[in-house]
Amino acid sequence: MSHALFDLTDRVALVSGSASGLGKAIALGLAESGADLVLADIDRDGMLRTVEEIEATGRKALPIVCDMSDPAAIREMYGQVDADCGRLDIVANIAGNSRREAPLVVSEEDMTFTLQNLVVGRLVSCQEAGRRMIKVGKGSIINLVSIAGLTALGRNHLIYSIAMGGAAQMTRELSTEWSAKGVRVNAIVCAQIMNEELRVRIAADEVLGQTYLRGIPIGRLGESDDIKGLAIFLASDASSFVTGALIPLDGGNLAKNAGGSHPGMPNAPAEQV
Ligand SMILES: NC(=O)c1ccc[n+]([C@@H]2O[C@H](COP(=O)([O-])OP(=O)(O)OC[C@H]3O[C@@H](n4cnc5c(N)ncnc54)[C@H](O)[C@@H]3O)[C@@H](O)[C@H]2O)c1
Repeated sequence: MSHALFDLTDRVALVSGSASGLGKAIALGLAESGADLVLADIDRDGMLRTVEEIEATGRKALPIVCDMSDPAAIREMYGQVDADCGRLDIVANIAGNSRREAPLVVSEEDMTFTLQNLVVGRLVSCQEAGRRMIKVGKGSIINLVSIAGLTALGRNHLIYSIAMGGAAQMTRELSTEWSAKGVRVNAIVCAQIMNEELRVRIAADEVLGQTYLRGIPIGRLGESDDIKGLAIFLASDASSFVTGALIPLDGGNLAKNAGGSHPGMPNAPAEQV
């Protein structure tokens, strides 16, 4: 039996990036808790697969092809949500592409591309969501942030980190502006959750996977489904006094000092083993 505080029956949730990975897991988790879904992604075929899985739970799913780095496309999509759904209770801003390049050679074009995806697109989506939620005095916005928005990763993450830092501060500022109007804004701060890009990078560099595991006290990389519980919590009334929070979903990575060691850590210092 599940607690009524987590019940999302008949609420409408918009999740960007829901053709795969974290966005897909969130969309399915919210549907399993009773919400109807609007899916936004550039990958139409992937979204259609998510639609099938959502419909199998008995909930509705409306897929909209939308480039979440394009403000005009985002505004048009919200217009379609108004016309087709008539309400919007939850928005999860998950999609966003980025580029990695060495600090001395990163180009303005790479920077613009990444900021447009991870900062401008999310802000426009928050504005459109906030406008609608403030009108009815209730709503929950969830932004996806990386641990790179709070700490430095190196490995050519400069502009990604700058952009994710922007998404983190966007969350705090909007929470401060909108919480008294009924709109809660929170972030899930992710680290090393397996996706296709990470799979390829780890396969190409055997040291990388070990490097990640040395920083994760829980002893494994994340899986997309790990995000479901936290997303349901933040979307639902179970988190009604939680706003402006940046909650790590990282197996303990942020809590651990870079010089610390933990049981099972690859190449742990002798005193730990
Ligand atoms: N996986 C991790 O460990 C991790 C950690 C921190 C942050 N993130 C961030 O979370 C987000 C999702 O990551 P994921 O692991 O689910 O990746 P993923 O590649 O599995 O999914 C990303 C989805 O977003 C879509 N997308 C990309 N650019 C888009 C755009 N401009 N408009 C609309 N849709 C777009 C893709 O088509 C895809 O369906 C990314 O922004 C990523 O940087 C991921």
